[in-house]
Amino acid sequence: MDGIIGLLPCTLAILAVTVGVDRLRWSKADSFPQLDAIPSVGPSGHLSSYYGAARFILHAKSMIQEGYDQYKDGFFKVPMMNRWVVVITGPRLLEELRKIPDERLSFDHAMRDLLQVKYTFGLEAQEHPYHVQVIRDHLKRNLSELFPSVFEEIRLSLNDVIPLQEKNGWVKVGAYSAAMKVTCRTSNRIFVGLPICQSAEFEELQSKFALQVMTRASLMNLFPTLLHPLIGRLLTNTPSSLRRCMALLKPIVDERLRNEELLGKNWPGKPRDVISWLIDVSSPEDRNVRSIALRILVLNFASLHTSAQSFAHALFNLAAYPQYQEPLREEVRDVIDKQGWSKESMSQLPKMDSFLKESQRVSSTSLMPVVRKAMEDIIFSDGTKIPTGTHVAVASGPMHFDSRYYPNADEFDPFRFCPTRKEVSTKYSTNLTQLSFGQGKRACPGRFFASTMMTTMMAYLVLNYDMKLENDGVRPPDEWFLMNCSPNRTAEILFRRRPMC
Ligand code: HEM
Ligand SMILES: *[C@@H]1O[C@H](CO)[C@@H](O)[C@H](O)[C@H]1NC(C)=O
Ligand SMILES: *[C@@H]1O[C@H](CO)[C@@H](O)[C@H](O)[C@H]1NC(C)=O
Ligand SMILES: *[C@@H]1O[C@H](CO)[C@@H](O)[C@H](O)[C@H]1NC(C)=O
Repeated sequence: MDGIIGLLPCTLAILAVTVGVDRLRWSKADSFPQLDAIPSVGPSGHLSSYYGAARFILHAKSMIQEGYDQYKDGFFKVPMMNRWVVVITGPRLLEELRKIPDERLSFDHAMRDLLQVKYTFGLEAQEHPYHVQVIRDHLKRNLSELFPSVFEEIRLSLNDVIPLQEKNGWVKVGAYSAAMKVTCRTSNRIFVGLPICQSAEFEELQSKFALQVMTRASLMNLFPTLLHPLIGRLLTNTPSSLRRCMALLKPIVDERLRNEELLGKNWPGKPRDVISWLIDVSSPEDRNVRSIALRILVLNFASLHTSAQSFAHALFNLAAYPQYQEPLREEVRDVIDKQGWSKESMSQLPKMDSFLKESQRVSSTSLMPVVRKAMEDIIFSDGTKIPTGTHVAVASGPMHFDSRYYPNADEFDPFRFCPTRKEVSTKYSTNLTQLSFGQGKRACPGRFFASTMMTTMMAYLVLNYDMKLENDGVRPPDEWFLMNCSPNRTAEILFRRRPMC
């Protein structure tokens, strides 16, 4: 992120030159449809809105909150450097949005703009999204059987990132990088299997690529659309990442294709992992190393930072409120004593489940996880018209702190989602909490895997460690960039191994 912030002066200088050009397009072009009827946050003049867009880079949270407080259960718009985003602010409108089919309010086209898909991944992964089917169907259905490998990788990688300390002393661990390492190894145990999931080179490739896509796309979005073809070509690193990923995966993919040819589709000893399933469902033109490697990059992009940030947030919350470690530990110990480690036992931890949900509520990684693009004019029931080409987002961040949906919304109340606590769940609270994984048909297909992975990591940690924060237990401040909220990337958490019991 420092890189991006360092580039800001340069960006602003180029903007000064291009704003003039862009203004001409302001009223006509696809990115700037007429939205006068929808109130804005910040100045809305042709030039002054650029000031709002610049503010949004580091102050998105307060700007979205401002619009939310002013236009409850309605709409407002916020300026980005290259477009307006219309934000909806209540569950009633969210329900309406959910029912509008993807052809009219498109997830893919919103991603094309936000992630600059054309320049980052290339459009082919969106045009042949067979990896989504693999996560949605195969992974979800095989999770119970895969659980032992998932658990083994979690155990091994956590033992690697938390070094043993003599005499049961405390040991400091960078929470964000630990979360990144463990989620990368664990999800890739399922994506590509042993031994590649444990390769340091593979891990570095995946975590760097995911971050680069984010930073490059965000950077591109600071520039007017007019300049994208130019900047896009300068910034992309996809060809080199793809080549490295292909080199690492080639031996496996080749071997599996060969085995299938020789021994048939269900050859004996065929591994159960995402690579096998990708080969199974791909059409003939996608049955090659290049296509499979691209899908592995895309899946890592979708899963790594989301899971690592959510998990690091949860770790900071658990270390910041150490009094909840013992109740969670008791719950885990109870279930493990009776049933051992399995996907089923991990789904019988209502306190842990509630703790992770509460952590996602108060420390969402995204202010507006749901974004869609209007492919035609959309008219909501209150008459609000969203013109073709406009991005529509949901203000889930402020809704998570609205006391109409969550009593004592400002309080971190880890067990508020326990089924025994009937008093807290309002009509909407469960749906709103799930917003972190998106909405409707395009909601995150990896959410079941992500939940199982995070529950298991946390269960293993509470059982085996005590945790606390440095600096008298004060949680380090989060780092905001546009709509993304990351926990502090360098802050450490102290771990102490608990005596074996
Ligand atoms: C805590 C972790 C995660 C969070 C918060 C998260 C969040 C999201 C969100 C908000 C979306 C967009 C949904 C929408 O707009 O309605 C999404 C899409 C997606 N996620 Fe996740 N995700 C997580 C983990 C994962 C994992 C582990 C995987 C893979 C195993 C994954 C794979 C995907 C894919 C492939 C899509 C695109 C779906 C499509 O094209 O229809 N995610 N995720
Ligand atoms: C694993 O996934 C495959 C493909 O979706 C499916 O045929 C198989 O039945 C699944 N295994 C189990 C135990 O559900
Ligand atoms: C919650 O979401 C489900 C589907 O995801 C929907 O059927 C239900 O109506 C929603 N409930 C509320 C109160 O909006
Ligand atoms: C992150 O935490 C470290 C160590 O606690 C601290 O030195 C640093 O200033 C923090 N960074 C931010 C952006 O708050």
